[in-house]
Amino acid sequence: MADSDREKAANGMANLSVGDGTLDVKVEESEDFVDPWNVTSSSAKGIDYDKLIKKFGSSKIDDVLIERFEKITGKPAHHFLKRGIFFSHRDVHQVLNLYEQGKPFFLYTGRGPSSEAMHLGHLIPFIFTKWLQEVFDVPLVIQLTDDEKFFWKDMKLEEAQRLAYENVKDIIACGFDVTKTFIFSDLDFIGQCPAFYQNMVRIQRCVTFNQVKGIFGFDDSTIIGKISFPAIQAAPSFSSSFPFIFNGKKDVHCLIPCAIDQDPYFRMTRDVAPRLGLPKPALLHSSFFPALQGAQTKMSASDPNSSIFLTDTDKQIKTKINKYAFSGGGATIEEHKANGGDCDVDISYQYLRFFLEDDERLDKIRQDYTSGELLTGYLKKELIELLQPLVRAHKERRQKITDEQIKEFMTLRKLKFDY
Ligand code: TYM
Repeated sequence: MADSDREKAANGMANLSVGDGTLDVKVEESEDFVDPWNVTSSSAKGIDYDKLIKKFGSSKIDDVLIERFEKITGKPAHHFLKRGIFFSHRDVHQVLNLYEQGKPFFLYTGRGPSSEAMHLGHLIPFIFTKWLQEVFDVPLVIQLTDDEKFFWKDMKLEEAQRLAYENVKDIIACGFDVTKTFIFSDLDFIGQCPAFYQNMVRIQRCVTFNQVKGIFGFDDSTIIGKISFPAIQAAPSFSSSFPFIFNGKKDVHCLIPCAIDQDPYFRMTRDVAPRLGLPKPALLHSSFFPALQGAQTKMSASDPNSSIFLTDTDKQIKTKINKYAFSGGGATIEEHKANGGDCDVDISYQYLRFFLEDDERLDKIRQDYTSGELLTGYLKKELIELLQPLVRAHKERRQKITDEQIKEFMTLRKLKFDY
């Protein structure tokens, strides 16, 4: 889809040829649309993830894979796995095989700093990555694509760098281990690391304009910064991009946890890898933490009213949930008691699914809301009381982060692993 068409898709519009012109029409039964910049669905239940797996050609995370995780790590699976929040993967069995054989792998994830603070949706891959780092005890690299945001947003270069620095605080506040984690901003780091730039250039030689047009919807008016950017997000998938961590080893496999919107970058990377004689990165894909207004779109930093930010106050959290969180309840109390609520579309329930770890309690809430016994107001109260302390604790950890600590995470250095 071209850049201009993508905007229309986001608004449920499509082009219809009429004579020699085109007409924008509203599409009633439009397909779900997922790329790194837009996520839209025409259904109140959100994206049809089974269909997306087929469309993207990835694999479903099934019970067999979850049992394997538990067997190999000797730890219970994270509730994001058990509840299907991380629902899709590429080649994860291969990474687990390596781990069983005592061979190393590393984790790679990232953030495009487009806002002062991250929101609850951004936390999902980072919470899961932290869990993976703990259970597998492996190195982690985190890329901050301040260059990407400079190309895509109306933003000065200095502002993109400043936001990257602000976002690092949210990332460190997730609790990553500094002895196992390297965080870098593209604008700072790439000039310091010839090996990274050399991999970027190798990748750029393997991909044509036609191919990125197909994958990312670029068109003839797309700036060349955007056209060449995918190589920058691809490069950290290869251990040879970080010689100071991997001692020049080229064959350490990579596992990338992210939401499925980032998959186009890594489809391209996996296509290029064999041509460079490098291992294809494996992926674990999460579903989207929905916007407050409903699961037709993901929570997005570009719409502040759709999002609960990690810097929001108790009062802001309460007001946003009470005012905006879409309800799956009946129009009146009588109707709700008679017909029950619909958890599949109710945003408060959906958020509880991500953050309420107690399976029994979540199940009880589901039953009682579905039967009509619990009203939407109760669900909202339960969510507010869960999120306020969670965000407060995050903010407290964030406030304590010093410039020294940030520097430590962002300094090119060997981590605690030997290669
Ligand atoms: P960004 O900043 O858009 O998002 C950061 C991470 O959060 C995920 N994400 C979400 N997950 C669940 N629900 C949501 N509503 C939601 N919104 C965003 C994204 O999938 C991502 O994992 N280009 C990237 C930065 C990047 C990156 C990477 C991400 C560079 N290298 C490697 C993942 C893996 C970006 O702009 O992410």
